[in-house]
Amino acid sequence: MNHAVKTTLIVGQPLDRVDGRLKVTGTATYAHEIKSSRAPTYGFILPATIAKGRIAAIDTRRAETAPGVLLVLTHRNMPSQPKFGPARPPKGGPSRYARASPFLGDDRVRFWGEPVAFVVAETFEAGRHGAALIHVDYTAEPQITDLRANLDKTYAPETVNGGKATDSAMGDFNAAFGSAPVTVEGTYWIAYQAHNAMEPHAAVAEWQGSRLIIHTSTQTVADTRAAVAATLGMPIDDVRIVSPFVGGGFGGKLGVRAETILAAFAARVLGQPVKAAQTRQQVFHNVGHRPACSQTVKLAATHDGRLTGISHDVVMQSTPSEEYAEQSATATRALYAAPNRSTRHRLVRLDMPGGEPVRAPGEAPGLLALETAMDELATALGMDPIELRIRNEPHLDPERQVPFSSRNLVRCLREGATRFGWAQRPRAPGSRREGRSLVGYGVSAAIRSNYIAKAEATALLERTGTVTVRTDMTDLGTGTYTILTQIAADELGLPPERIVVQLGDSRFPRSPGSGGSWGAASSGSAVKDACHKLRAAILERAASVPNSPLFGADTAKGSIRNGIVSSGRRSADIEAVAAAVAVGGLETRGQVVGMADNPAYSQFSQYAFGAHFAEVRVDADTGEIRLRRMLGAFAVGKVLNPKTARSQVIGGMIWGLSSALHEDAVIDPRFGLFVNHDLAEYHVPVHMDVPDVDAFFVLEDDDKGNTLGIKGIGELGICGAGAAVGNAVFNATGIRVREFPITLDKVLAGLPDQLESMRQQ
Ligand code: MOS
Repeated sequence: MNHAVKTTLIVGQPLDRVDGRLKVTGTATYAHEIKSSRAPTYGFILPATIAKGRIAAIDTRRAETAPGVLLVLTHRNMPSQPKFGPARPPKGGPSRYARASPFLGDDRVRFWGEPVAFVVAETFEAGRHGAALIHVDYTAEPQITDLRANLDKTYAPETVNGGKATDSAMGDFNAAFGSAPVTVEGTYWIAYQAHNAMEPHAAVAEWQGSRLIIHTSTQTVADTRAAVAATLGMPIDDVRIVSPFVGGGFGGKLGVRAETILAAFAARVLGQPVKAAQTRQQVFHNVGHRPACSQTVKLAATHDGRLTGISHDVVMQSTPSEEYAEQSATATRALYAAPNRSTRHRLVRLDMPGGEPVRAPGEAPGLLALETAMDELATALGMDPIELRIRNEPHLDPERQVPFSSRNLVRCLREGATRFGWAQRPRAPGSRREGRSLVGYGVSAAIRSNYIAKAEATALLERTGTVTVRTDMTDLGTGTYTILTQIAADELGLPPERIVVQLGDSRFPRSPGSGGSWGAASSGSAVKDACHKLRAAILERAASVPNSPLFGADTAKGSIRNGIVSSGRRSADIEAVAAAVAVGGLETRGQVVGMADNPAYSQFSQYAFGAHFAEVRVDADTGEIRLRRMLGAFAVGKVLNPKTARSQVIGGMIWGLSSALHEDAVIDPRFGLFVNHDLAEYHVPVHMDVPDVDAFFVLEDDDKGNTLGIKGIGELGICGAGAAVGNAVFNATGIRVREFPITLDKVLAGLPDQLESMRQQ
């Protein structure tokens, strides 16, 4: 009778976060809240106050005798460390996040904010006070920290982030540009941006004999473990990294940071647990940022809007000691058809903190430039910008000349346009006036690489009938616990309440962690494989273990649905089966290979796509720019959980809005510091800035990338989003701002005559 039970798939349902209750009751324990086995001590970082030079003298005596201070580490008494590096990790070698990362290693200062001392005390306050008592004399050296003033001092990196080619070329772009009937050319400036995860970087380090356990906030447990072992010169097996809850990462927690390394060394010196966190101000200088860049896009087209040439040149900040090259022109290699093409990335070494991936590295700034340029071309052609994009839809990846695994940009543009009411768009820029406001609409395309990386997971059936899934994958707040629960539940035929997902511990099977939007595909595929094997093992054992309720049944007819194990006419609850077949636990291991070993990645070009629509109003008198509404349409293969997926993409869209209108980490070139290094002066959108943002997913099947049929979504939402907002500002005002963020001072001078504006009211 039971085998007629209807199967309800959990994947695809808007399941509430399985860790939601822990989060809202404050019982999800983040790194800094971990209770160490003994009372912790507190470490505080003292940052350098010059951009380049040497520590001539450092006087720590007052700090050392201050009340509560236990230890002051500087370059003079730091335990020995290996050199940082390699600065440019070799191709095919270990990840850049697994490198030895020494701090306080010498008397050199490479950037403003670099740690020069670490004060450990009985309380956080005593540590901070102790740090304030340290006197440092610097020998400053001439430094360069102004990108705009040094845009000509470029060099070409060997590759750009993700191992992608630095340059690409097809046909003859210059000839195409020189002979095209319609051309546009724009140089776009994108400001420095900071990750600003809600949870600042934090760690609690504790030694147990020769073993080190660190609770830290990281995106990548395995890389962090490797970096810690390399920096402390110890066997990797003696290091355990634990990171079950992470309050946002966005790329700033891909690797190990100063607080973690310094806490580990200090805990060893003191023989006591050390807790350390970076302050919000320190985070601006010590975890990387999106490098500022100048991008030049040139487009050549026929009168009917067919692109004959695309070129995209990027110049961005790097450093003398560490290289990071954001792949900002790489999306341009795949987005539109055109026979003549050229992309280039160049770096300028500045005496500043090194850049790091920041949400959608590459596409996020690259599409701000390219998708603004496409809007400029539509204006030059007098063509609807959606039609222009549709006209340049390629049949194959235009540079790789392989098919796309799936590509539904056009559907996103069309379905999004209908839902948004694109037909109501003001035709002529600056033509719609509503009271004091000029109103405009903007559109842009979204494209984001779809990745997968090698991952492993285990699934363990306990004798209670509960299944525990384990991987060292992290949940940054994105919903990883929830989607892995859903995947396991469906694969095993068990209700989600029977699945326990455990993440973020280096004792668990290795995953690539969270980054690049590869997390769901990578860890999800490994979990699916582990659960697939566990299901087979349960059915096999149910039939073969003598005291099993299904002993002797035909395994070939076996199934598990809604927690009922069946074979033919016989069935039993998973609890009864587990009590017999999983006495000591029944465990399987699953895995998935990475892109290099997956032929679908060489045979197909794999991207997720989308389209953004924005409506803004600009105050005709003050230039104040307000978003009215924004809609995103996305094609991401199968959606595992519409609730967490929507949350991911609208979060990205809001960051896109932010990059268009708000974010700008301002360098003071005299000191090389970000002067607005806190959330009071570094602007991010608040609720008042985000009145109405919505997103939907178009139906899409893609079985090429992984067995789940999904694509990465975390970073897709930001891709192109800022350009839609900027294009809406142009449509509202007729003013094209090529310097992001678009603040009111940049539109004010071009607004219609103030008197004229008063007459109309
Ligand atoms: Mo992401 S910027 O790879 O966390």
